[in-house]
Amino acid sequence: MKKESKKISVITSYDYSIASLCDKAGIDILLVGDSAGMVMLGYENTIPVTMEQMCIFTESVSRARKNSVVVADLPFMSYQSSFSDAIENSGRLIKAGADAVKLEGGLPMVETISAIVEVGIPVMGHIGLQPQTTMLSDGYKVQGKTEESAVKLIEDAKALEEAGVFSIVLEMVTQDVAKIISDIVKIPTIGIGAGNYCDGQVLVVQDLLGMYDKIKPKFVKRYMNLSEDIVKAVENYKKDVESGSFPAPENWFTMDENEFKKLRDKIGN
Ligand code: KIV
Repeated sequence: MKKESKKISVITSYDYSIASLCDKAGIDILLVGDSAGMVMLGYENTIPVTMEQMCIFTESVSRARKNSVVVADLPFMSYQSSFSDAIENSGRLIKAGADAVKLEGGLPMVETISAIVEVGIPVMGHIGLQPQTTMLSDGYKVQGKTEESAVKLIEDAKALEEAGVFSIVLEMVTQDVAKIISDIVKIPTIGIGAGNYCDGQVLVVQDLLGMYDKIKPKFVKRYMNLSEDIVKAVENYKKDVESGSFPAPENWFTMDENEFKKLRDKIGN
């Protein structure tokens, strides 16, 4: 994937209905993120997410897409323990319909990435805040605030490019460092909380639709407040059920008049 003047739009998707709409809206990449663990499954973080769950989400999204590229996350401990695990699990996501996989980590992941790329599976990198690991040690912190951490991020990005990733997600990285990385590497950078010099942007779909209230990081832009609309719609449905105004004639089915008469005669009703 070469850098182009048009920025790349990426949205997370986990299910058929939302993925169809994002594909219809012309989104470039549908990312089946392991953030599904939080926004779809209600876990506190992404650690418990399994390969089985990721395969189901990936199948649903890939059935929905017509034009978008589908990238699926390798969940925690599906690629860290051996190259063969990494290759096998990447293969499972590809068989579930993904075009590429994404994994978290910089320099320590270089050999794993090369091993996956060598079998022909495209890999997207992910550095900066890495929810599967930095969240455990460091908490939810902006990365690249000091010279030392900036140099590490730049080295990570260069190493990932050399290992063969086709793109790199920069999560919660200072705008300054994201710009340097985006200038240095030839592959596109996709930012989330990394400013506007990245070659593309990604947001969690529930965040941009205003459907997930547990946390609202500074980098999220809500394009609507769908939770409010959903609660209102469901309250109205409940009222209609309780008052008997739903269902109405347009929502139900009737027997043919003659058949109904025959039935009544037969059962004496
Ligand atoms: O899982 C996810 O949603 C992600 C994005 C935040 C990039 O990895």
